[in-house]
Amino acid sequence: MSEHETTTEHAGEPTRRDFLYMVTGMAGAVGAVSVAWPFIDQMRPDASTLALASIEVDVSALEPGMSLTVKWRGKPVFIRNRTDKEVEEGKAVALADLKDPVARNANIDPTAEATDVARSAGEGKENWIVMIGSCTHLGCVPLGQSGDFGGWFCPCHGSHYDTAGRIRKGPAPANLAVPTYGFVSDTVIKIG
Ligand code: FES
Repeated sequence: MSEHETTTEHAGEPTRRDFLYMVTGMAGAVGAVSVAWPFIDQMRPDASTLALASIEVDVSALEPGMSLTVKWRGKPVFIRNRTDKEVEEGKAVALADLKDPVARNANIDPTAEATDVARSAGEGKENWIVMIGSCTHLGCVPLGQSGDFGGWFCPCHGSHYDTAGRIRKGPAPANLAVPTYGFVSDTVIKIG
Protein backbone atom coordinates (compact mmCIF):
# COMPACT_ATOMS: atom_id res chain seq x y z
CA MET A 1 0.00 0.00 0.00
CA SER A 2 1.38 3.44 -0.98
CA GLU A 3 1.68 6.28 1.43
CA HIS A 4 -0.95 8.23 -0.63
CA GLU A 5 -3.60 5.47 -0.22
CA THR A 6 -3.02 5.34 3.50
CA THR A 7 -3.53 9.09 3.81
CA THR A 8 -6.84 8.94 1.87
CA GLU A 9 -8.21 6.17 4.07
CA HIS A 10 -7.55 8.18 7.21
CA ALA A 11 -9.11 11.34 5.76
CA GLY A 12 -12.45 10.08 4.40
CA GLU A 13 -13.33 6.54 5.45
CA PRO A 14 -13.67 4.95 8.82
CA THR A 15 -10.25 3.67 9.79
CA ARG A 16 -9.60 0.18 11.04
CA ARG A 17 -9.35 1.61 14.49
CA ASP A 18 -12.77 3.36 14.13
CA PHE A 19 -14.28 0.10 12.95
CA LEU A 20 -12.91 -1.81 15.87
CA TYR A 21 -14.41 0.75 18.21
CA MET A 22 -17.81 0.34 16.55
CA VAL A 23 -17.70 -3.44 16.84
CA THR A 24 -16.64 -3.17 20.43
CA GLY A 25 -19.47 -0.75 21.05
CA MET A 26 -22.03 -3.09 19.55
CA ALA A 27 -20.71 -6.01 21.51
CA GLY A 28 -21.08 -3.88 24.60
CA ALA A 29 -24.66 -3.09 23.72
CA VAL A 30 -25.51 -6.76 23.16
CA GLY A 31 -23.80 -7.61 26.40
CA ALA A 32 -25.86 -5.00 28.19
CA VAL A 33 -29.08 -6.51 26.83
CA SER A 34 -28.11 -10.01 27.84
CA VAL A 35 -27.40 -8.97 31.41
CA ALA A 36 -30.47 -6.74 31.61
CA TRP A 37 -32.96 -9.62 31.54
CA PRO A 38 -31.69 -11.44 34.60
CA PHE A 39 -31.57 -8.11 36.35
CA ILE A 40 -35.21 -7.33 35.51
CA ASP A 41 -36.13 -10.86 36.49
CA GLN A 42 -34.60 -10.24 39.88
CA MET A 43 -36.75 -7.13 40.23
CA ARG A 44 -39.92 -9.20 40.44
CA PRO A 45 -41.10 -8.95 44.04
CA ASP A 46 -40.15 -11.96 46.09
CA ALA A 47 -41.90 -13.07 49.24
CA SER A 48 -39.98 -10.72 51.51
CA THR A 49 -40.84 -7.70 49.36
CA LEU A 50 -44.50 -8.67 49.19
CA ALA A 51 -44.51 -8.94 52.95
CA LEU A 52 -43.67 -5.24 53.09
CA ALA A 53 -46.91 -4.52 51.25
CA SER A 54 -48.34 -4.30 54.74
CA ILE A 55 -46.72 -3.63 58.07
CA GLU A 56 -47.88 -3.94 61.65
CA VAL A 57 -46.95 -1.24 64.11
CA ASP A 58 -47.12 -1.52 67.89
CA VAL A 59 -48.48 1.81 69.11
CA SER A 60 -48.79 0.89 72.79
CA ALA A 61 -46.05 3.37 73.76
CA LEU A 62 -47.81 6.33 72.13
CA GLU A 63 -49.41 8.43 74.85
CA PRO A 64 -51.94 11.11 73.84
CA GLY A 65 -50.05 13.92 72.13
CA MET A 66 -47.31 11.64 70.85
CA SER A 67 -46.68 10.59 67.28
CA LEU A 68 -44.62 8.10 65.38
CA THR A 69 -43.37 8.02 61.83
CA VAL A 70 -42.91 4.65 60.16
CA LYS A 71 -41.78 3.73 56.67
CA TRP A 72 -44.26 1.90 54.48
CA ARG A 73 -43.74 1.16 50.80
CA GLY A 74 -40.90 3.67 50.80
CA LYS A 75 -43.02 6.48 52.21
CA PRO A 76 -43.25 7.99 55.68
CA VAL A 77 -46.50 7.34 57.47
CA PHE A 78 -47.53 9.47 60.42
CA ILE A 79 -49.33 7.81 63.31
CA ARG A 80 -50.56 10.23 65.94
CA ASN A 81 -52.42 9.67 69.14
CA ARG A 82 -54.22 13.00 69.33
CA THR A 83 -55.11 14.67 72.58
CA ASP A 84 -58.78 15.29 73.35
CA LYS A 85 -58.11 18.98 72.79
CA GLU A 86 -56.72 18.30 69.32
CA VAL A 87 -59.78 16.22 68.47
CA GLU A 88 -62.07 18.98 69.71
CA GLU A 89 -60.19 21.51 67.60
CA GLY A 90 -60.62 19.28 64.57
CA LYS A 91 -64.34 18.83 65.23
CA ALA A 92 -64.90 22.54 65.71
CA VAL A 93 -63.87 23.39 62.14
CA ALA A 94 -66.76 24.24 59.83
CA LEU A 95 -66.66 22.20 56.63
CA ALA A 96 -67.17 25.42 54.69
CA ASP A 97 -63.78 26.60 55.93
CA LEU A 98 -61.94 23.65 54.42
CA LYS A 99 -59.86 24.16 51.32
CA ASP A 100 -60.28 20.46 50.46
CA PRO A 101 -63.71 19.18 51.60
CA VAL A 102 -63.02 15.50 50.76
CA ALA A 103 -61.92 13.04 53.47
CA ARG A 104 -59.25 11.33 51.30
CA ASN A 105 -59.42 8.34 53.57
CA ALA A 106 -58.77 5.06 51.76
CA ASN A 107 -60.82 3.20 54.36
CA ILE A 108 -64.13 4.89 53.62
CA ASP A 109 -66.20 6.22 50.75
CA PRO A 110 -63.82 8.39 48.71
CA THR A 111 -66.47 11.08 48.37
CA ALA A 112 -67.05 11.38 52.13
CA GLU A 113 -66.86 14.82 53.69
CA ALA A 114 -63.65 15.68 55.51
CA THR A 115 -65.13 15.74 59.01
CA ASP A 116 -62.73 15.12 61.86
CA VAL A 117 -64.08 11.64 62.51
CA ALA A 118 -63.88 10.75 58.79
CA ARG A 119 -60.19 11.58 58.87
CA SER A 120 -59.53 9.64 62.06
CA ALA A 121 -59.55 5.91 62.84
CA GLY A 122 -63.32 6.21 63.28
CA GLU A 123 -65.97 6.20 65.99
CA GLY A 124 -64.46 5.29 69.34
CA LYS A 125 -60.94 5.76 68.03
CA GLU A 126 -61.10 9.39 66.99
CA ASN A 127 -57.88 10.15 68.81
CA TRP A 128 -55.90 8.09 66.32
CA ILE A 129 -54.95 9.42 62.94
CA VAL A 130 -52.77 7.73 60.32
CA MET A 131 -51.63 9.55 57.20
CA ILE A 132 -49.08 9.40 54.42
CA GLY A 133 -46.40 11.92 55.42
CA SER A 134 -46.12 13.53 52.03
CA CYS A 135 -47.20 17.12 51.46
CA THR A 136 -49.80 17.26 48.70
CA HIS A 137 -48.03 20.23 47.15
CA LEU A 138 -44.71 18.78 46.01
CA GLY A 139 -44.17 15.87 48.36
CA CYS A 140 -42.00 17.23 51.18
CA VAL A 141 -42.39 15.64 54.59
CA PRO A 142 -44.36 18.01 56.84
CA LEU A 143 -43.34 18.63 60.44
CA GLY A 144 -45.68 17.44 63.18
CA GLN A 145 -47.15 19.47 66.00
CA SER A 146 -46.51 22.70 64.17
CA GLY A 147 -48.05 25.26 61.90
CA ASP A 148 -50.83 27.79 62.41
CA PHE A 149 -53.42 25.08 63.10
CA GLY A 150 -51.45 22.89 65.51
CA GLY A 151 -51.26 19.97 63.13
CA TRP A 152 -48.51 19.71 60.54
CA PHE A 153 -46.48 22.31 58.73
CA CYS A 154 -44.61 21.87 55.48
CA PRO A 155 -41.74 24.36 55.47
CA CYS A 156 -40.91 23.82 51.79
CA HIS A 157 -43.48 26.36 50.60
CA GLY A 158 -45.52 27.00 53.72
CA SER A 159 -48.48 24.63 53.82
CA HIS A 160 -50.37 24.38 57.11
CA TYR A 161 -52.44 21.32 58.00
CA ASP A 162 -54.79 21.13 60.98
CA THR A 163 -54.98 18.44 63.67
CA ALA A 164 -56.93 16.23 61.28
CA GLY A 165 -54.30 16.61 58.55
CA ARG A 166 -56.55 18.83 56.45
CA ILE A 167 -54.95 21.55 54.37
CA ARG A 168 -55.91 24.93 55.77
CA LYS A 169 -53.39 27.39 54.37
CA GLY A 170 -50.63 27.47 51.76
CA PRO A 171 -50.16 26.04 48.28
CA ALA A 172 -50.95 22.36 48.97
CA PRO A 173 -54.20 21.48 47.19
CA ALA A 174 -55.39 18.50 49.24
CA ASN A 175 -55.58 16.96 52.69
CA LEU A 176 -52.84 14.51 53.66
CA ALA A 177 -53.85 11.08 52.34
CA VAL A 178 -55.01 8.41 54.74
CA PRO A 179 -53.74 4.96 53.68
CA THR A 180 -55.54 1.66 54.05
CA TYR A 181 -55.08 0.59 57.64
CA GLY A 182 -56.86 -0.80 60.66
CA PHE A 183 -56.39 -1.85 64.27
CA VAL A 184 -55.70 -5.58 64.49
CA SER A 185 -55.70 -5.33 68.28
CA ASP A 186 -56.04 -2.50 70.81
CA THR A 187 -52.38 -1.61 70.40
CA VAL A 188 -51.36 -2.77 66.93
CA ILE A 189 -52.13 -1.01 63.65
CA LYS A 190 -51.78 -2.80 60.35
CA ILE A 191 -50.99 -0.50 57.44
CA GLY A 192 -51.64 -1.76 53.93
S1 FES B 1 -44.06 20.65 49.28
FE1 FES B 1 -45.17 21.22 51.04
S2 FES B 1 -45.61 23.28 50.72
FE2 FES B 1 -44.55 22.73 48.92
